Amino acid sequence: MEKTKVAIIGLGTVGSGVARLLLDFGDRTGRHAGRVLWLEKAVVRDLSKPRDCDLPKGVLTEELDDVIDDHEIEVVAQLIGGLEPARSIMLRLLESGKDVVTANKALLAEHGPEIFDRARELGRSVAFEASVAGGIPIIANIGQCLSANQIESLHGILNGTSNFILSKMHEEGSAYQEVVAEAQRLGYAEADPAMDVDGTDAAQKLAILAHLAFGARVHWDEIPRSGIDTLDIADVRYAQEMGYKIKLLAVAQLVDDGLELHVSPTLVRNGRPLAEVGGPYNAIRVVGDAVGELMFYGPGAGQMPTASAVVADIIDTAVGRTKITFSTLELWSNQSARVNPAEYANARGRFYIRVNVEDHPGVLSQITSALGGEQISISSVLQHETETGEDVVPLVIMTHETTEGAAEKACQQINALDCVRGEAVRLWVRD
Ligand code: NAP
Ligand code: HSE
Repeated sequence: MEKTKVAIIGLGTVGSGVARLLLDFGDRTGRHAGRVLWLEKAVVRDLSKPRDCDLPKGVLTEELDDVIDDHEIEVVAQLIGGLEPARSIMLRLLESGKDVVTANKALLAEHGPEIFDRARELGRSVAFEASVAGGIPIIANIGQCLSANQIESLHGILNGTSNFILSKMHEEGSAYQEVVAEAQRLGYAEADPAMDVDGTDAAQKLAILAHLAFGARVHWDEIPRSGIDTLDIADVRYAQEMGYKIKLLAVAQLVDDGLELHVSPTLVRNGRPLAEVGGPYNAIRVVGDAVGELMFYGPGAGQMPTASAVVADIIDTAVGRTKITFSTLELWSNQSARVNPAEYANARGRFYIRVNVEDHPGVLSQITSALGGEQISISSVLQHETETGEDVVPLVIMTHETTEGAAEKACQQINALDCVRGEAVRLWVRD
């Protein structure tokens, strides 16, 4: 059987899983690739650090040059996180004639144009299935299987760590800070977990999907986003009481003035498929004009699900399939954008607004007139009687459909009222 020599750079959570699949299941991967996938080298920073896999003697090295200078190594899984040295290593690998597989969405969302242009100039390929939604094959589905469609919308739970934390908040009433460490220990979180909980990771994945599905050329940092790091357990309880779960939802949908894009904690009505996605799982609802509505669901983070996507890319690259799709997709090429981001203020939807107010006569009418002034109609109001006779009470309002801009303006007016303590919390609602 023919042999394709493979290397791994970075033997952390994902890298160790990839090594295990290549070493422990070589018969299976070899059968699917029609050749032996031979793990020649694994590059680490510290040889003495314990690893989550057993490597044959001579595979582990601290020298990147052991890979760069070995012209028999054809495919490299680049599995270190962050921007540098990941970017420089990526470029060196391509320049030394390797095809590269990566799970690093931060790198692609930030330096995609440079990396993909360089790969094209050099006649090399970059595969990145694992960069979005872990084990779910969403890149292949959007890039290839749905190519007869105009994608109309994507609604996704794209960050496993946030979803894991939100599930614990809903199920156990835990505060978010208590659960972050557990997500890290289980290998779901980024090296800097702030990126998971502040919406950055989901925005980076959404930028990649928007590029692939809609031809949008949007930098992830231009995507309006908020995370779950400021979410109060009280909002989780109110959402539950009204029949919703809070999910960190990434949205890309075609609207009249372009592509609506945002990442926001959203109340999703119980019973909707996205509301029932628990733990570190991800899900993406895709609507295409020919196929209709599709749901993709699966583990969005973690060692073996992510390694599953990386090894599938290694197989595709070794077989030569990646090269064909890579050149046809023209990813991050200097072609002009097919669609531009729409004005966020025009995005339409319902909103949940919680505001702490003084429990005095006339307060409710001040709040409702701020909403009415922006033509926002109220769908329901919730205020519980206090048993302790407190002077400040939470008031929860669900609106009918309006625009993001109108809801933002109304909340600014509400925040300026003397009867209001602190700032209004505003979340999207999806029925
Ligand atoms: P990780 O556990 O922190 O592993 C990263 C590894 O890279 C570490 O072992 C680190 O070495 C190594 N490394 C860093 N700089 C290096 C260098 N200059 N040379 C050699 N090795 C170097 O991270 P991970 O969870 O495996 O994630 C890797 C990538 O996959 C990230 O881009 C992440 O966003 C992405 N991803 C992760 C998941 C997931 O569920 N974990 C899912 C999808 C995508 P040390 O061991 O010495 O620190
Ligand atoms: N930290 C990421 C998450 C890993 O929690 O979704 C998968 O990209």
